[in-house]
Amino acid sequence: MSTSIPFNSPTLMGRELDYVREVLASAKWCGDGPFTQRCEQWLEKHFGAKRVLLTTSCTDALEMSALVLDIQPGDEVLIPSFTFVSSINAFILRGARPVFIDVRADTVNIDERLIEKKITPRTKAIVVVHYAGVACDMQKIGAIAQRHGLAVVEDNAHGLFAKYQGQRLGTFGRMSTLSFHETKNITCGEGGALVINDERDIERAEILREKGTNRRRFMRGQVDKYTWVDVGSSFLPADINAAVLYGQLEKFDKIQSLRHEIWRRYSAGVADWCARHDVKQPTIPEGCEHSAHMYYLVTPNLEFRSRLMAHLKAQGVATAFHYQSLHLSDMGRRYGGRDGDCPVTEKMSDCLIRLPMWNGMSHEQVHTVIAAVNSF
Ligand SMILES: Cc1ncc(COP(=O)(O)O)c(C=O)c1O
Repeated sequence: MSTSIPFNSPTLMGRELDYVREVLASAKWCGDGPFTQRCEQWLEKHFGAKRVLLTTSCTDALEMSALVLDIQPGDEVLIPSFTFVSSINAFILRGARPVFIDVRADTVNIDERLIEKKITPRTKAIVVVHYAGVACDMQKIGAIAQRHGLAVVEDNAHGLFAKYQGQRLGTFGRMSTLSFHETKNITCGEGGALVINDERDIERAEILREKGTNRRRFMRGQVDKYTWVDVGSSFLPADINAAVLYGQLEKFDKIQSLRHEIWRRYSAGVADWCARHDVKQPTIPEGCEHSAHMYYLVTPNLEFRSRLMAHLKAQGVATAFHYQSLHLSDMGRRYGGRDGDCPVTEKMSDCLIRLPMWNGMSHEQVHTVIAAVNSF
């Protein structure tokens, strides 16, 4: 049988098409137009952030964070080994050395108990990833960062709308980054944002996003011409993308309730099967409100996962595994990564499987996936 249930399928949720038409009928298609501003204001209000800057991707927002932190060659950055390459590439581009930390077996988040012993006089930052939109232990990580004078950057690609002890993910670090890639809860195809929590970083971040110029000050009438004042690049998305994004943001309530419903049905629908096969379901620790970004399972071994994926494919259900251990990648090994350095990460790379999840997934499709898992 060919795959009839895809892993993901981006879905129009509201007025995206009207808003794109509105931009295309206007004389302003480039960045920083009315929809860019609406999205930024929406996100600033949502996060209570000092400033939010839309970017072309989460990767670009991470690159901006490394520039804002003034990361220099030889600086060390602590990073979970189970994450997307962009979380660390952004810092490698500035000459930093990655220091890979293993993840926790329950949440698949950076293991806060392993952080402190990896800190050296060269350590500048801790990058945390809230895997599947479930919070890292920000209380302990915040205390470690404070004790050692380190910046925390939250790669919050998965965690928009999630909370830790009542506080929104993305508001704990000096900065955080968001992704609006088509697999995310809210999407405009490709997109991202830098969420700035320290007022002192705002002006530099605005300059970096505007190719190293003070164009933003010029637009506000604060200088009479704009000029080259710093390094920078082109991190600003077109207003066409922002129009799609705003159409989705307006529907965040509906999107979150649809995704939580799918997540809950998966959780209940495969619970008995998981218990019988020694398969682990996601753990949501006390005090965490997750974002329903993904639903994953952890199988007992790689062979089990391969057979399960093949079985689901034969039933027409597409699934995906996730990150391959960064410390064992070609690049990771160049930085000294060795087999066995991060055993939990290595297990997750072999055993984690993600089930289909998107905003427009129907009741029947969820039912089909659950039945397909149960028939294995
Ligand atoms: C944890 C994490 N960070 C960053 C990214 C990169 O996001 P983007 O595709 O918006 O650059 C991803 C991609 O999914 C991710 O999973």
